[in-house]
Amino acid sequence: MNSLIDKYNIPGPRYTSYPTVPYWDENSFTPELWKQSVIRTFKESNAEEGISIYIHLPFCEALCTFCACHKRITKQHSVEIPYLESVLKEWQLYLKLFNEKPKLKELHLGGGTPTFFSPKNLKTLLEGIFETVEIAEHQEFSFEGHPNNTTKEHLQTLYDLGFRRVSFGVQDYDPKVQKAINRIQSFEKVREVTEWAKEIGYRGISHDLVFGLPHQTWEAMESTIRKTMELKPDRLAFYSYAHVPWVKGVGQRGFDENDLPSGEEKRRLYEDGKKLLEELGYIEVGMDHFSLEHDDLYQSLIQKKLHRNFMGYTSSKTQLMVGLGMSAISDSWYAFAQNIKTVEEYQKMVEEGEIPVVKGHILNDEDLTVRRHILNLMCQLETTFDINNSFPELENAFEMLKEMENDELVEINGHHIQITEKGRAFTRNVAMVFDLRMMRNKPETRIFSMTI
Ligand SMILES: C[S@@+](CC[C@H](N)C(=O)[O-])C[C@H]1O[C@@H](n2cnc3c(N)ncnc32)[C@H](O)[C@@H]1O
Ligand code: SF4
Repeated sequence: MNSLIDKYNIPGPRYTSYPTVPYWDENSFTPELWKQSVIRTFKESNAEEGISIYIHLPFCEALCTFCACHKRITKQHSVEIPYLESVLKEWQLYLKLFNEKPKLKELHLGGGTPTFFSPKNLKTLLEGIFETVEIAEHQEFSFEGHPNNTTKEHLQTLYDLGFRRVSFGVQDYDPKVQKAINRIQSFEKVREVTEWAKEIGYRGISHDLVFGLPHQTWEAMESTIRKTMELKPDRLAFYSYAHVPWVKGVGQRGFDENDLPSGEEKRRLYEDGKKLLEELGYIEVGMDHFSLEHDDLYQSLIQKKLHRNFMGYTSSKTQLMVGLGMSAISDSWYAFAQNIKTVEEYQKMVEEGEIPVVKGHILNDEDLTVRRHILNLMCQLETTFDINNSFPELENAFEMLKEMENDELVEINGHHIQITEKGRAFTRNVAMVFDLRMMRNKPETRIFSMTI
């Protein structure tokens, strides 16, 4: 396995979208085209499958120095109400585009830290949205909770509003790692919030773990996984640490590149972590995620309903996802759009009555074909190409896959590709072969070392 890791371990997109954000064609995008796309998708899909809403709640009280999310650090809770008022106003701007009441199927509160906001303010926000929608049967409402500031009242209030899923950011329990990432968080605290959530009746409790953090050793990782198992969350995200200090506003500091595990050590953390999680009864779902057999995520995998969007893996699909809040990304299947990235500019645009999207991408027919195949690979680990509805580089892409077939990472049958169990860790490499936007813009991109 090690030589495979050396060969294929290259930075690759996580494919929460295709095209990925760096390859969006911003020249083709205008806010007007975005609105038209929302109107079209809403008409096509609202009655049947409903829509999803993602709300970005950006504030955090302290900076975790490993974090790559769009956030704003402040201890001033006076920011809560004005921000939530802007979110509700932004939602009103979307409502004007709809010809009927939206059916809300999925709702996710992400951040930043949703639990920075008081339960009372979150309730006002959500009631403001709920009075404008019809809530779908079997709704899926979830939120991200920071264990250090999630209270029993947060959990109860959100449960009463229909939330059944919560993901807690754990990362790693090792004191040296926690110090380096400026996130001191005890196991007792995580135990307390997890037990509250169970008592209240949440049934999709998830913990986020990250491998590849500064000073992380296998001993630290193993101990974190074993502690996590004492609490038996229904599912786990097992993220690869994304080191992107050059991205504006990210604020990754407090440790040195030399403190990070090497590429091989990092891959080993993943491989050994995965092995241990599987021994402990978790099943890998798609990429980065593990779940117990009873959990919806695994059930949707076996029923071939697993979907992936900017929220990560989800157990149902809606064609329209409206992202509200600063930096939020929306998806109408035929187009993507991202909101402006600072709180002040976001609030100003909304006040002026503008949907605050500032960049995006309108998908052409070829993008839609590739998007479908990459989604199939990321969710079902297989896809079949129709040569009558493909693109000029298809044969070349299959040529590139031969190397992976020789390494038993994929099985190819005509134009059908199946990623093998051994190949699962390399799913992104397989998807990259079909990433036409990336290949055409950066033909020198490495898919694996052989191509250099
Ligand atoms: C928005 S945060 C979670 C909510 C809350 N703010 C908290 O920290 O508990 C979402 C998750 O993203 C993951 N994350 C953040 N920065 C990351 C990075 N640089 N690489 C990999 N995962 C990261 C962490 O696992 C984190 O729990
Ligand atoms: S990990 Fe969570 S709490 Fe920490 S800075 Fe990022 S979003 Fe904020």
